[in-house]
Amino acid sequence: MAAHLRDDDRPLPAWTTRCVNCHVDTSKTPAFAPPLTHESLLAAASRRGGPISHYDATAFCRAVKDGIDPAGVLLRKSMPHYQIADAECMALWQFVVHQ
Ligand code: HEC
Repeated sequence: MAAHLRDDDRPLPAWTTRCVNCHVDTSKTPAFAPPLTHESLLAAASRRGGPISHYDATAFCRAVKDGIDPAGVLLRKSMPHYQIADAECMALWQFVVHQ
């Protein structure tokens, strides 16, 4: 899946863009990137100091494509921006929240 970092037009090498390279699947370990789990994404929580929010499919795809969280807070530059079709992103959301 094609991706780039914010303010950088160059495509990232494919081997760097797999979600699991940065997102571990446990909510117990403090990690480089937050867990992508049902619990963490659907929980009403304050993220990055923003107001309380939770993810749905639309908010998830905005984070993946544009690097903006459900409260409108910009994600760190280290989270790539993905060029992903809506249907593909919805399928990814379904996969992530049903694990
Ligand atoms: C190069 C490392 C890296 C890769 C690869 C990566 N991410 Fe991220 N992602 C991050 C970082 C770092 C953050 C945290 C950004 C912040 O807190 O500002 C993040 C945050 C997120 C968030 C917001 C989570 C929250 O709790 O608000 C979502 C959703 C997300 N990533 C989805 C994905 C998906 C889906 C993929 C694969 C298609 C992916 N990421 C690949 C580094 C990465």
